[in-house]
Amino acid sequence: MMEEKILEVSDMKIHFPVYKGLVFRKQTACVKAVDGISIDLKQGETLGLVGESGCGKSTFGRTVMRLYDPTAGRIRLNGKDITHLSGSDLEEFRVSCQMIFQDPYASLNPRMTVFDIIAEPLRTHKIFGSRQELEKEINELMNLVGLSPRYIKKYPHEFSGGQRQRIAIARALAIKPKLIVCDEPVSALDVSIQSQIINLLIDLQKELGLSYIFIAHDIAVVKHISDRIAVMYL
Ligand SMILES: Nc1ncnc2c1ncn2[C@@H]1O[C@H](COP(=O)(O)OP(=O)(O)OP(=O)(O)O)[C@@H](O)[C@H]1O
Ligand SMILES: [Mg+2]
Repeated sequence: MMEEKILEVSDMKIHFPVYKGLVFRKQTACVKAVDGISIDLKQGETLGLVGESGCGKSTFGRTVMRLYDPTAGRIRLNGKDITHLSGSDLEEFRVSCQMIFQDPYASLNPRMTVFDIIAEPLRTHKIFGSRQELEKEINELMNLVGLSPRYIKKYPHEFSGGQRQRIAIARALAIKPKLIVCDEPVSALDVSIQSQIINLLIDLQKELGLSYIFIAHDIAVVKHISDRIAVMYL
C-alpha cells in the first residue's frame, strides 16, 4: 500500500503574466511563482513543504488542486495525467482531492450553519440520499473531527479558531478524498491549539489512509507530521 504513488509532479512551472495599461493591455513581465518543482507522494504519506513567505508554496498547492493551470510540467494522480483536465473530468478529479486553508475565519462562510458548510461539497457533487442520510453523515463527520453534533445549527463566529479548523477539516473529509493539501492549517492558531489540530490530522490519516501535502513556514511544525520534507526557496 505504502509503495503506490498517489501524486507525481514533474518539473512544474507556474508563471503569472504582469500587464501594463488599462485599455491596451500589454504583457510586460511575468512573476515566476513556481519555477520547476518535482515531487512525489506515496499513499498514506505526508510530504512537508516549507519555505519562506512568497516562495510559491500556496501557488504550488493550488495548482496541484487544479485551481490554477500550470505553465509547464505534469501532474499525475494515481497514475492518471490530470494536468489538463477540464469539464466533467475535472469535476470527477475534484472528488479525490481537497484543501484546508490557513485562515479558518476566512475559509468558512459566516452565513452558513455548520450543517450547511459540511453538507456543501456533498450537495455540489450530488453524493447524498435523503435529508436524514445527510444528517447522519454530518453527525458522523462532526464526531470524527472531535466536534459535538450538538453544534450542528451554529454559525462559524460561535466557534474558536481551533474548532473552526475542525469544521473545515470535516468539510474537506465529507466527500472522502484520498489526498489533502493542507496550506498552513495551524499557522493562524494558538500554539496550544496547533498540536491538537496536528494530532487530529495524524489520527485521521491513520484511520482513513489519507495522503497529505502539508505546507508550513515553520519547520518544527512540519517535522512532527511529515514523513519527508521538501524545502522551497526563492
Ligand atoms: N494570482 C497571482 N497573480 C500574480 N502573482 C501571484 C498570484 N498568486 C501569487 N502570486 C505571486 O507568486 C509568488 C508566490 O506566492 P505564494 O502565495 O504561492 O507564496 P507562499 O510561499 O504561499 O507565501 P506565504 O508563506 O506568505 O503564504 C508571490 O510573489 C506572489 O506575489
Ligand atoms: Mg501561502
